[in-house]
Amino acid sequence: MSGMPATGPTRGDDPVARVDALRAEIAHHNLRYHQLDAPEISDADYDVLVRELRALEADHPDLVVPDSPTSHVGAAPSSLFASVTHRVPMMSLDNAFSAEELGAWADRLAKVVPADTRFECELKIDGLAISLTYRNGTFVQAATRGDGTTGEDVTANVATIAAIPKELDSGIGVVPEVLEVRGEVYMPLAAFDDLNRRQDELGEKRFVNPRNSAAGSLRQKDSAITATRALSFWAYQVGEVLPDPNDDPAGPLVGLASGQAATLDWLGRSGLPVNPEVRLVKGLPGVLAFCEEWQARRHELDYEIDGVVVKVDDLALQRTLGATSRAPRWAIAYKFPPEERSTTLVDIEVSIGRTGKATPFAVLEPVFVGGSTVGLATLHNEDQVRIKDVRPGDVVIVRKAGDVIPEVVGPVVSEGSERGSAWTFPTACPVCDGPLVRLDGESDTFCTNLDCAGQRVQRIAHFASRSAMDIEGLGEQRVQLLVDQGLVTDVSDLYAFTPLTFTGLEGFAEISTTNLLAAIDASRGQPLSRVLVGLGIRHLGQVGSQSLARACGDIDTILSADEATLAAIDGVGPVIASSVVAWFASPVNRAVVERMRGADLTLTEPMQPDPREGGLTQTLQGKSVVVTGTLPGRTRDEAEGAVVARGGKSPGSVSAKTFAVVVGEAPGASKVTKAETLGIPVVAAEGFDQLLETGEIPN
Ligand code: IVH
Repeated sequence: MSGMPATGPTRGDDPVARVDALRAEIAHHNLRYHQLDAPEISDADYDVLVRELRALEADHPDLVVPDSPTSHVGAAPSSLFASVTHRVPMMSLDNAFSAEELGAWADRLAKVVPADTRFECELKIDGLAISLTYRNGTFVQAATRGDGTTGEDVTANVATIAAIPKELDSGIGVVPEVLEVRGEVYMPLAAFDDLNRRQDELGEKRFVNPRNSAAGSLRQKDSAITATRALSFWAYQVGEVLPDPNDDPAGPLVGLASGQAATLDWLGRSGLPVNPEVRLVKGLPGVLAFCEEWQARRHELDYEIDGVVVKVDDLALQRTLGATSRAPRWAIAYKFPPEERSTTLVDIEVSIGRTGKATPFAVLEPVFVGGSTVGLATLHNEDQVRIKDVRPGDVVIVRKAGDVIPEVVGPVVSEGSERGSAWTFPTACPVCDGPLVRLDGESDTFCTNLDCAGQRVQRIAHFASRSAMDIEGLGEQRVQLLVDQGLVTDVSDLYAFTPLTFTGLEGFAEISTTNLLAAIDASRGQPLSRVLVGLGIRHLGQVGSQSLARACGDIDTILSADEATLAAIDGVGPVIASSVVAWFASPVNRAVVERMRGADLTLTEPMQPDPREGGLTQTLQGKSVVVTGTLPGRTRDEAEGAVVARGGKSPGSVSAKTFAVVVGEAPGASKVTKAETLGIPVVAAEGFDQLLETGEIPN
């Protein structure tokens, strides 16, 4: 487990002491989460603590006490708000973290309920639980859950939420004298992005996630602040209802007397927002299918969910099953694997790319999140580190959602806690000690020393990479070793290697040396377009290289062409043309080309059919690409059609599941900002052809 270190004894110690330590730690986190809206650890890390305590209590029943956090809900209400007593307790839910645990729950139920019992499956909205009271159809009070018995009166704040009706729809027939509706207040993703954009503009601290923002926004002293936060609401349960519908099961409130699905239907018809993604299923297989489906589709929604809530539909069966002190036995929360975890930011280091770009990255205490172990995460540039205000030694939230690369969301800082000093961008290259320079108006910093070994390693590794010369067995580590030994200074040196080159070098056994030499030799046959990709000329990606190579046919034509000629080539244009001419104008680069020629590389391009003519490869299968602004040579419809023709989707708005946003002239600013906030790759118009052809984000 990572995150906040357990105070006091750890696992393996005396169970009495460990149980005490866990209870103290969980109580601390309950307070941070429920009262202060400022958790110090991720939900997943909190769940780990509770599970450990539960397991210890199960193994040592003598250690169970009535006020253990495993047997009560939330945290006591804060003194900031008046108290509200819940006449029907607001319970929590037990969790299942796997299909097996769901199965075990179903097995326990099967002892009491029929085999074909119907379950209502609902999304588990990641917000905060709220109770709303309507008297004769008029909204009169809203309260937080608090400790389940006493909550906080947040009526004025909840009254600002537009999605919550102030009057129930009387079209449903009879409106109860008292109707207590329970549900989740949440912050939609777009509202969360907007809020953080405003925080950035004000130079204020960013919010870590929509759940904390929703809780913080709702529990404000000043409801005018809540009103600016665009909160929303889904209703999923009823609490107190008067008159009690069960007293007259055939009466006008029958809709509230039979089952969970009928209750949701009734709530929806009374004008309350009810989430449409619900499914009534028979038995466990249907439950598992719903959980699996929404685990895969969670990023299609414009709000966050952290699991699925499964409820026995029949209210009579619910009553038979009853509840423990903190949770009903008739419902369970299936929790998705975490996409956020807390861990320690060990250090911030800087890597040097092939163009000399110096990119800061986080060195993390490795943490399992979003399906893999994450130990490193890019921090993009100096401004990002400053905006996130992450400092070595901080506990940080790491997020890895879907296919998106892992991200350090921000630090979790408790008031008054000691922190290291703010990180500053180094002034010297970590590889060659040359100066690191950030030009005015630019966000990136560069090592300007062309002889920098760091850049050299990256240039050579890029040349050998799959999209370029595809030299198997020549990854970054080996290139590093060869550069360190002074065996290679530029890519043409690779072709002078012999078996003797590797004598005594660690990691170059005889067989792998033979294979590597064969792979280098085979790369001599790669067409000119691959060589051009491998040279790493700025702005010249795979598609530009192909256009250039096909149009010119051989390297000499490129060498002798002027800028205007190259710019006129379809798929090249003035930016690439200028960069290509500048690159080949350098005597050092020319010498590399001549050495490649001397080493018998294929510097010509075979004639090929234009891939735009029919038979398109489905490079974008299942991927969603948003196009904004005008792209050269294509109407918006044509651009979107090109995505669809390659198996992709091209919707009109950006969401967390968007694969890339292609930006043309006069783009929609909100789309670009949203993409940036969500960490979705933004592709310039010049990169669109490459994206279509490769299905990958251009360099
Ligand atoms: S039902 C007695 N349904 O999850 C059952 N809860 O981890 C009460 N939640 O406290 C809850 N979506 O804040 C229910 N569709 C849903 C839910 C949901 C989110 C929250 C709720 C609850 C917490 C338990």
